Amino acid sequence: MKLRSDLKTKIFKLKRGDYKMIYNNIKEFPENFLWGASTSAYQVEGASNEDGKGMSVIDMCDHPKETSDFKVASDHYHRFKEDVKLFADLGLKAYRFSIAWTRIIPNGIGDINEKGIKFYNDLIDELNSYGIEPIVTMFHFDLPYALEEKGGWGNRETIDAFIEYAKVLFECFGSKVKYWLTINEQNTMILHPGAIGIPKGFEIPTKKEIYQQNHHMLLAQARVMNLCHKMCPDSKIGPAVNTTAMYGETCNPNDAIAAHNWETIRCWSFLDVAAFGRYNSLSWSYLVDRGLEPNILEGDMEEMASARPDFIAINYYSTATIAASKGDTSDISARAGDQQIMLGEQGVYRAAENPYVDKTKYGWVIDPVGLRLTLRKVYERYNLPILITENGIGAPDVVEENDVINDDYRIDYIKKHLEQLQLAITDGVKVIGYCPWSAIDVVSTHQGYGKRYGFIYVNRDEFDLKDLRRIKKKSFNWYKNVIATNGKVL
Ligand code: BG6
Repeated sequence: MKLRSDLKTKIFKLKRGDYKMIYNNIKEFPENFLWGASTSAYQVEGASNEDGKGMSVIDMCDHPKETSDFKVASDHYHRFKEDVKLFADLGLKAYRFSIAWTRIIPNGIGDINEKGIKFYNDLIDELNSYGIEPIVTMFHFDLPYALEEKGGWGNRETIDAFIEYAKVLFECFGSKVKYWLTINEQNTMILHPGAIGIPKGFEIPTKKEIYQQNHHMLLAQARVMNLCHKMCPDSKIGPAVNTTAMYGETCNPNDAIAAHNWETIRCWSFLDVAAFGRYNSLSWSYLVDRGLEPNILEGDMEEMASARPDFIAINYYSTATIAASKGDTSDISARAGDQQIMLGEQGVYRAAENPYVDKTKYGWVIDPVGLRLTLRKVYERYNLPILITENGIGAPDVVEENDVINDDYRIDYIKKHLEQLQLAITDGVKVIGYCPWSAIDVVSTHQGYGKRYGFIYVNRDEFDLKDLRRIKKKSFNWYKNVIATNGKVL
């Protein structure tokens, strides 16, 4: 292709990664863009055994001795008014949080806990009073333990329990919540079942069992989307999947096939069912070939086909770089040394290194351009608005003299991702909001309070609760200005 010579010069003068100049004009962030931030119930609330809350699988896990448990967490349950006031000060237009199923229905099915309803009613009212849009995740990893004891997602009755729970949520909060997320990171739960923890006395399910669970969750999701449209016609609902574009390690066509294998199995196989109401053909062939396909009852596929989300929510942290399988056990390796997340599968793909990206202290790839690519792919595939429900950098933030927290690395991370997000918008991708992880420090799934993500610091250590006071980090003031200028000043 022949480039205009002035454009050619411009491009060659730019650094790698700066190719935004192929546009003459960069589009602005849309009006009413949902500038937000995220948390999840079990990671932020604490009060894990208070006011009638039941136990969830998370509460019943053997917790690593080196990190905090979830009993007090950031004590948001008792301090939500103070927290929401800070969110308002930050200028948030949206706050994405999850409802703990066990606070609403302590045993997963049956009696409703009025105190749980009251807590979320108060939280939602408080948010609305400041004009902050509540974005509610219905299920973020914390399945009621009573349901787990009866087989968890492997038991079809859990689908009915989820629908009953959803009915309560839509009845109680449906008129005040416009955005619902069905299930957070179903793909993490299915592909890395030990990652969130396994309750004491339970074992990691077999792959066959896991894909049966997956089918039940997908069916539950389809029913809940239909129910939401029926009960709350003014609300919107969508899945929240950890989604990322993948690169082949080289231009060897076999690396491209392997990257496509894993991108499909890890991301599209989940989103395709939600958006198209059918299983993805490549991932289905993979399941059938290995005898892992779920038992599907009559009517299941019709139900799935009848549901459609209003938007796609994605959690994006990193891209992955993938090489062809060598067909032996060397294909399998721990992600960033974390034995709970094993990557690679014989005959499918192996994880490879990418020399063009940075990494966090915890070995997570930092790839802002990958966000643009991921957004393009999701939009091209589903043609639905996209809500970014997680993105962020975990770090052991340090409080310096006079309560100063210089988290410049967070500012840098989010700024670069927002630049790419703006380019994706310029590419024509419809993005309706950005909710980085996390609004306030929360317990990290594996590294407790040693790894923080928030704009607001919670003054506690791993085991010493100190005074739990809230301190604005440097990134707080930076993000506040981003929101105030609708992304004009990054
Ligand atoms: C997402 C989860 O996968 O990653 C969050 O939805 C989690 O619950 C976040 O906290 C960051 O992961 P981690 O392990 O650093 O806490």
